[in-house]
Amino acid sequence: MASLFRTKPLQKILAQSQAHKGRLKRTLSAFDLTALGIGAIIGTGIFVLTGTAAADKAGPALMLSFMFAGVACAFSALCYAEFASMLPIAGSAYTYAYSTVGELMAWIIGWDLILEYAIGSGAVASGWSHYLQKLAGQYGLIIPDWLSHDTLTYMGLLKEGAVTASPLMLGGMPIAFNLPASLVALFVTVLLVIGIKESARTNALIVFVKVAIILFIIVAGFFYIKPEHWTPFFPYGADGILAGAGTIFFAYIGFDAVSTAAEEAKNPTKDLPVGIIASLAVCTLLYILVTAVITGMVPYNLIDRGAPLAAAFSHVGQNWAAYIISVGAVAGLTSVLLVLMMSMPRIFFAMSRDGLLWPWFGHVHEKFGTPSNATILTGLFVAFVAGFTPIEHLAEMTSIGTLFAFSLVCAAVIILRRKAPEQERKFRVPWVPVLPVLGILFNAVMMVHLQPETWIRLVVWLVLGFIIYFGYGNKHSKLNADGE
Ligand code: ALA
Repeated sequence: MASLFRTKPLQKILAQSQAHKGRLKRTLSAFDLTALGIGAIIGTGIFVLTGTAAADKAGPALMLSFMFAGVACAFSALCYAEFASMLPIAGSAYTYAYSTVGELMAWIIGWDLILEYAIGSGAVASGWSHYLQKLAGQYGLIIPDWLSHDTLTYMGLLKEGAVTASPLMLGGMPIAFNLPASLVALFVTVLLVIGIKESARTNALIVFVKVAIILFIIVAGFFYIKPEHWTPFFPYGADGILAGAGTIFFAYIGFDAVSTAAEEAKNPTKDLPVGIIASLAVCTLLYILVTAVITGMVPYNLIDRGAPLAAAFSHVGQNWAAYIISVGAVAGLTSVLLVLMMSMPRIFFAMSRDGLLWPWFGHVHEKFGTPSNATILTGLFVAFVAGFTPIEHLAEMTSIGTLFAFSLVCAAVIILRRKAPEQERKFRVPWVPVLPVLGILFNAVMMVHLQPETWIRLVVWLVLGFIIYFGYGNKHSKLNADGE
């Protein structure tokens, strides 16, 4: 029983990070970390999910949903920043929990972060595929239905007679999967195995393009705003605002990815809090402005659900702008994939270093200095889920896992202030415990607004995690050998 609550001493975490043989290279500056955060944050959430959220959930009041979710994330971001300034090592919320609430909770969070990064990457790859298909369509290239839809969506559409039959059958079932989504996941995997330096540079360039596209939408769209489209402002009432917040919460996921790059940061204690908070603040402002523009350009019930930002410009007759936005979306979503898929293997890496996962996961490539086994496994997993699962399922599952993990991080800040008050914190959350408790409450409000099926999937995922923990991790934990 005691083993479930054993904690990894802070000093040991720091010493291990310094002494670890398979150390990752330190190459990232504060600017790189902020770019990394923005690279992870702006993506499918704003480019794709804004459509459904505005049209079916919140209407123009989606601006308030973005504020609500942004404030909720700010509470969690502050808590992340305190931990990141104290424990600047790979593993993120998982490591924070290991030093505070204990091994079982750390395992649950780590397992949960797999949902965030791997399933979330699947959702982003799927969104990427939608925009790619839109662009390809403009050049007259049409990808066959059975290679452009995920399996579940395809089955549904086939029943309705809305798609053409697949030429390939397996045991009487038509074969169909989202080929572009799977291919982009595999492409990003190759970049990541080759090394962080190259991929961070590529990422910085794409982040620049992505921010430029978002600014373009805000500035160009401003001239097409008709203020009468903002009335009614609350077509779905207060509940709609919260349901909208639950949906677009996905758009904020990623600022925590900055903390998973701690061991690759040049000056982590100072730069990690800057990277986390700066990236979140920039994105919140941009999101609210984009939503104001889009809902001002198009009556809320006519907002497109697939490519809402590009379609808003088609709506006002500016197809050239829609084209530019689609190109930017394809580039931008690639950068999200890069960061999310870079973060996932680093959590595997940390868990394996602690003995909770097989040593195979912690293997660092001799030449490239990257966690290559974990990266390749992640890539195959993302390619699989993106090919077979609808984007809405993937996005909701990602959100529930992340909200849960964020709440545990908020709780862990309160616990650690009591347990280790003397430990140096370069960054401190103000008004503890009020702000972390508010973070937990805001997150809970968004969680209860997600689909019941999403809750069931979360439970199934956690049960699978328990089986692995009790079957392997608990017995092989490095803390066993230390007699702790
Ligand atoms: N926040 C990221 C996105 O919107 C995950 O795609």
